[in-house]
Amino acid sequence: MPDGSMSGRIGQSPVRVDGRAKVTGAAHYASDMAVPNPAWAWLVTSAIARGRIAAIDEAAARAVPGVLDILTHRSMRGEVGDAGFFAGGGYAGSTIRPLQDDRVRHDGEIVAIVLAEGLEQAREAAYRLRIDYAEETPAAGFGSEGAELVSAREASGGSFEDPGVGDADAAFAGAAIRVAADYATPTQHHNPIELFTTTAQWEDGRLTVFEGSQYVHGLKNGLAAQLGLDPAMVRVESPYIGGAFGSRGSLTQRTALIAVAARRLNRPVKLVATRDQGFTIASYRAETRQHVKLGADTDGRLVALVHEGTEVTSRPDPYKVAGTQTTSRIYACPNIRTRVSLLHADRNTPGFMRSPPELPYMFALESAMDELAHAAGLDPIELRRRNDTMREPIKGLPWTSRSLMPCFDRGAAAFGWAERNPAPRSMREGDWLVGWGCATTIYPTHLGAATARVTLTPDGRARVQTAAHEIGTGTYTVVAQAAAEGLGLPLGKVLVEMGDSDLPPAPVSGGSNVTASVCTVVMQACEQIRARLAAAATEGPLQGRDPATLRLLDGALRAPDGAAEPLAAAMARAANGAIEVYAENIPEGLPPDSLKKLYQGKQALGGGLEGKQHVMAAFGAEFVEVRVHSRTAELRVPRILGAFAAGRIVNPRTARSQLMGGLIWGIGSALHEATEIDRRTARYVNDNIAEYLIPVNADVPQVEVLFVEEEERTANPLGIKGLGELGNVGTNAAIANAVFHATGKRVRELPIRIESVL
Ligand code: MOS
Repeated sequence: MPDGSMSGRIGQSPVRVDGRAKVTGAAHYASDMAVPNPAWAWLVTSAIARGRIAAIDEAAARAVPGVLDILTHRSMRGEVGDAGFFAGGGYAGSTIRPLQDDRVRHDGEIVAIVLAEGLEQAREAAYRLRIDYAEETPAAGFGSEGAELVSAREASGGSFEDPGVGDADAAFAGAAIRVAADYATPTQHHNPIELFTTTAQWEDGRLTVFEGSQYVHGLKNGLAAQLGLDPAMVRVESPYIGGAFGSRGSLTQRTALIAVAARRLNRPVKLVATRDQGFTIASYRAETRQHVKLGADTDGRLVALVHEGTEVTSRPDPYKVAGTQTTSRIYACPNIRTRVSLLHADRNTPGFMRSPPELPYMFALESAMDELAHAAGLDPIELRRRNDTMREPIKGLPWTSRSLMPCFDRGAAAFGWAERNPAPRSMREGDWLVGWGCATTIYPTHLGAATARVTLTPDGRARVQTAAHEIGTGTYTVVAQAAAEGLGLPLGKVLVEMGDSDLPPAPVSGGSNVTASVCTVVMQACEQIRARLAAAATEGPLQGRDPATLRLLDGALRAPDGAAEPLAAAMARAANGAIEVYAENIPEGLPPDSLKKLYQGKQALGGGLEGKQHVMAAFGAEFVEVRVHSRTAELRVPRILGAFAAGRIVNPRTARSQLMGGLIWGIGSALHEATEIDRRTARYVNDNIAEYLIPVNADVPQVEVLFVEEEERTANPLGIKGLGELGNVGTNAAIANAVFHATGKRVRELPIRIESVL
């Protein structure tokens, strides 16, 4: 057993319980699942972004040996129903339904599925399938004729309100210090290591789908709706996931199509979509344009904040990023105006990507804050201190806890910020211009209704069952820690089962809610077991003690006076065999129908910034050193440091990995990642990981993560704030601010490249 693996209480740092399985290949991902005699599917995706399929010639494709069938809109029409858009109470990340008619609505839409005995045969036939299009001129997005601009408020049917307070424009006009600027963030695509795959199998009318998913209950219920099935007849299994962070949060249309293919062939079907197909059959981060105006008094106190954003989306779906929910609440300011607009274009529907609202919008706000600090002649940390607040300004609600300035102070000390010469272009080492920048990071504390079953067996082992997901963040481990803590067991005695829609439902693994939501309900189940053991023990050797004071610790039921009964004996007294408890929890402040919604597979997270009594978020401060070569403008980030406060840290080891991964993701977002779009054809150009750049080891020399202790009393009984999406939010601005400090050049468009600073 590796070091630390037996000591796994909350707050300790056991190694991942699934680590060995993952590095030895014992962990089975969706496409690894063995199914009998599978047929292989290969997707054919559209070569145009807008128009109609005029003709399909299948002859050459059907002549390929081993081809079993070719599904097109002609053979599939009407077979897959509407699952509804997730944000409108449905399940799907996109309501564009391929193969249901002859329309093409975006580049890379699925236009045919070839089914064959072998993968290579399916691929060859796919290349031989001839499709003729009647092409129409597409709108790619910003600057394209035919793109349609609507306000997010209008697009949401009035359910979305742009946050605001006071009269920001008048206050800005009269402000002593003013900055106003435009910012832009690019389309970015998920490139998880595990490709988008689906395996579908029917047995006696029951459908089993193996697919990497952040929400097996959502996928199950959505598939049932699309296929007209009783949800009880659908099972989704997703025990391991090779990267997610939003890309596997909502149902995509491929799943039902593969299920139909398997039903038609009467045998299991496997699909492994290619890397480039992943750019168009799943979701991605929407491109934005933003305008920020900040007005301050001579002391640097904000008097006006205006934040307007426009985001590209598909024709039918009102997916919104709307990071103004966060940027309008983070600093004290009496006058705030925000507005979010959507630009409908001939694109696939964007969706969640790690810190969806905060990443682009905090880039703009935190860049503007740095511009304001410069204009006011203030240190950027001091500017944030002067605008720090324990109440958000829109409704005046208190933050349940907020350690932004302690994070800045801890981070600044560790980074050596005091040695920074504030003047741009003032720090240099040889040919390299050196710049130091910082920015605030924030991620709202979301919570969801959750359920779990915990079984304690007479041999002193526990089994935890909950349909949460291991998206690579360490969920198996932290859930095991919750049970180990609750039952006083070593971690090695706890088995966690997740990623299966036949298990009690747990929320979507999104919005960084799962550690808080699921550990809370697991602890509640353990408490019921403890209470039952305690009640029985007070009839025996622990007679006379108040059962409420008995604790399960180190394999025994223990009274405060030191008396104890070994767990095996307590079990024997309380039960004939095992004790099995099912628990369900609705976090405080969430609507009473949250559990019902959870069972229906609907995404219903609460908390965060939309509470009625208070708002809650995790905070951090990020510090970056950049070096820009004075002749070539080569850009490097030799060191990056983040100080974070996120309430109780369940496992500092996995938490550190998440935050480190976030900082590295932030480097990629600031300097590398962008999906290039041919504006004439509305097609993605660099849809592969040779040309869609992400950071490699050479781009990430030194990453440091610090935890700032914080006690959170309100969010949940354990005091947990999610942190999976906290790390990458501030990094873009911290790097842009460091680039300004190094070069004197303000870059307001991501990614920052050599040509941005030449
Ligand atoms: Mo995360 S982008 O909420 O999966």
